[in-house]
Amino acid sequence: MVERDPWRVLDAQPNVRTMIAGLEARGATPAQMRLRRRFLRFLPVRRGDRVLEVGCGSGVVVRDLAALVGRRGEVVGVDRSRTVLSAARRLCRPAAARTRITLRHAEGGRLPFAARRFDVALAVTVILHVADAAAVVGEMARVTRPGGRIGLQDQDFGMLAVTHPDRELTDHVLDGVVRHLYEEPYSGRRLPGLLRAAGLERVRLLTDFFQDTTLEPWTKTFLERRAAYAVEFGLVDAATAQQWLDGFSAQVAAGSFVFTMTYYGAVGLKP
Ligand SMILES: C[S@@+](CC[C@H](N)C(=O)[O-])C[C@H]1O[C@@H](n2cnc3c(N)ncnc32)[C@H](O)[C@@H]1O
Repeated sequence: MVERDPWRVLDAQPNVRTMIAGLEARGATPAQMRLRRRFLRFLPVRRGDRVLEVGCGSGVVVRDLAALVGRRGEVVGVDRSRTVLSAARRLCRPAAARTRITLRHAEGGRLPFAARRFDVALAVTVILHVADAAAVVGEMARVTRPGGRIGLQDQDFGMLAVTHPDRELTDHVLDGVVRHLYEEPYSGRRLPGLLRAAGLERVRLLTDFFQDTTLEPWTKTFLERRAAYAVEFGLVDAATAQQWLDGFSAQVAAGSFVFTMTYYGAVGLKP
């Protein structure tokens, strides 16, 4: 059940390159860029900050962080996948000419940094995928200085809404897939509680949305992947999965397609 989440063991995935391309496609989707930057302002990240991103993937957030902290700041990204880190090193090269960026292989639950090393530690769409979320948040808190900020942002798959002529089938596919795929598909809503349990103070919550009315390439790929998983997990047969996907194209043609995914962003202060 649990080991089905491909983001836990990215290096073992036969389609790891496609998954990395998916991170970049998501990162370049304008509504996703705005969503990410609203969260970074909510933290906030300031000029000159020393920032750690846990589960940095291909470096989408690292590049945004580098622009925010500027020449005097520092961005450190860690990830447990060596493949994604090598992509991140390539993709972050131009940003690294202007800001100090370090990309390191590390487990979120065992961070190789001294206590109080950072002003800000954050994890974006990562906590959903980790087995021991409390251990990762505890480590993020340890390496953050007193008065520093710890921020978590995750989707919550119980809060995904999409138009489709067959609502029952849509619920069956979407809910069924996340139940098979993730240990905690409703991760977003638990983030404030995780921060408080780690001893953080003045916890704030930003509930935000990714909204798409045109079936952006990233959304299309997301729905196609859900359809493929539904077949793999025996929830529907291949013909039904294809009919389900065709239902979205019909909605787009009719101008009635709406897709919203909820993201919860939570921030706490290290006492
Ligand atoms: C969905 S990606 C998000 C990447 C990036 N934060 C972004 O928003 O584009 C999740 C990343 O977390 C990494 N990851 C998962 N579990 C981890 C852990 N226990 N420690 C460190 N990284 C982890 C994965 O390898 C993957 O690169």
